[in-house]
Amino acid sequence: MKKFIVILFTLSLVACQQNSGPQHAVATAHPIATQAGIEILNQGGNAFDAAVAVSATLAVVEPYSSGMGGGGFWLLHRVVDNKTTMIDGREVAPNAASRDMYLDENGDVIPKLSIDGALSAGIPGQPAALIHINQRYGTLSLRKVLAPAIKAANEGFPVTEHYRRMAKFRLEALRASPDAAKIFLQNNEVPEIGYLIKQPDLAETLQKMTRQGANGFYKGDLAWALVEGVREAGGIWNITDLQRYRVVEREPLVGQFGEYKVTSVPPSSSGGVAIMAMLNMLEQHKWSSLNEVDQKHLLVEVMRRAYRDRAVYLGDTDYVRVPLDKLTSKEYAKELGNDIKLNSATASASLPGLDDQPKGNHTTHFSILDKQGNRVAATLSINYPFGSCFVPPGTGILLNDEMDDFSSKPGEPNAYGLVGAEANAIAPGKRMLSSMSPTFVESNDRLAILGTPGGSRIITMVLHSILGVTQGDSAKDIVAAPRFHHQYLPDEIQHESDAFSGSEIDNLTARGHTLRELNGGYGNMQVVIVDKADNEVSAASDPRGEGEAIVQ
Ligand code: GLY
Repeated sequence: MKKFIVILFTLSLVACQQNSGPQHAVATAHPIATQAGIEILNQGGNAFDAAVAVSATLAVVEPYSSGMGGGGFWLLHRVVDNKTTMIDGREVAPNAASRDMYLDENGDVIPKLSIDGALSAGIPGQPAALIHINQRYGTLSLRKVLAPAIKAANEGFPVTEHYRRMAKFRLEALRASPDAAKIFLQNNEVPEIGYLIKQPDLAETLQKMTRQGANGFYKGDLAWALVEGVREAGGIWNITDLQRYRVVEREPLVGQFGEYKVTSVPPSSSGGVAIMAMLNMLEQHKWSSLNEVDQKHLLVEVMRRAYRDRAVYLGDTDYVRVPLDKLTSKEYAKELGNDIKLNSATASASLPGLDDQPKGNHTTHFSILDKQGNRVAATLSINYPFGSCFVPPGTGILLNDEMDDFSSKPGEPNAYGLVGAEANAIAPGKRMLSSMSPTFVESNDRLAILGTPGGSRIITMVLHSILGVTQGDSAKDIVAAPRFHHQYLPDEIQHESDAFSGSEIDNLTARGHTLRELNGGYGNMQVVIVDKADNEVSAASDPRGEGEAIVQ
């Protein structure tokens, strides 16, 4: 076992590989998932087959990040008909959900109710999304593409230091669910390094899906067991919530930044809108021609404004009107960025309109390219580490706590310190607002497939990486680059220790910024890049995580 862990560690250090000729590439947050993707590509599967295999395997080996009890966004590009689409497998609020369900009689948010246990879980979308991708875009049978995940669930995966950190963070909530404690703890304690996490119930659930497709999850015995388990633990699911769940294919958002076309996700993610708005403001202020510290100041100012708009305008477009064309237009960016001053910070409180948080090293992202050029960028989540920490008895399905991504009370921060307004209020069947931002960046010279977990900081990490691609940085440099973030409220720059030099900190402070250094790094970026001139493919997995990138 020790040997396996040493191999894991070594692979994550050499996560960037470069080759020439027709190649495929997979970058994910876990070596077992990367191997699953490569195995499927080597069996002749396309990028979409590999995406299903990787998603299902991550659901097994990264239970603190994503899962069959969660949801996500899969951004696909198919070469044969030049189709680009977003598969929205986001969770939805159960039908019995209501606007004030997490408030007490005084109208105050009841702590943890939207984070721990059965009441915090939205109706999962990942199983339906995987079946949809397999049926509409895949070439291999569901049995073949789910096989690596079933094997990993039966044989188990070894606990790492990262697993231990996540389990420790959520220990009390995991203990509160007997099935979760049995699967994810060792004698009710954080498991030792190398302890094998085996999930026979999850393996059986995946088998059921290979036999019955989406019905294996959303109808029949398993669906009833999920509903009964949730209700007995104080949740509000009904069988019709599962039966009615639908994946939605949505038109991606497309913007232009200089010579680069940027393709990202529309609501129910806020990521694409915020990214387009930030890029438009950077272009307006000629970001690339500025010196380094002015560039950093400007980045903070555009982040502040984009996150303020996120809070005010964004929600599920199936429920609320969001002025998407306006928010992503160059004209609006001129208006929004008009009051940016290069020599001083804008106080967030002075903008019109309307906290140590977790670092968001849960949620997960992977990037895949196949030899035909089909590609997938996917970001998947169960929200908080180990989601709700609740497993309905006998199902092996760890449920999400994505309900916390709604604004339980307008203006009150959620677990990420994000505030929201009416647009993101809870309603039955509605998708909660997300920050997940799988993205493609393409010019005549380069193509990049990228994304990361990281809660509210996902969007600014993706922005940093897009800028890295446009500046010709390598995949390895992009995933390793130091990060900083501003999200309107709290009004501070959150940053990794090496994001600014001492003189830059002095300079930004003198302009009126408040800086807060975070303990350790954040995010887990997975990048695949094609440099078109020599058709060279490279890929890299964030050195902050334990993932692996392979080019073959
Ligand atoms: N649950 C994290 C997100 O969707 O942004």
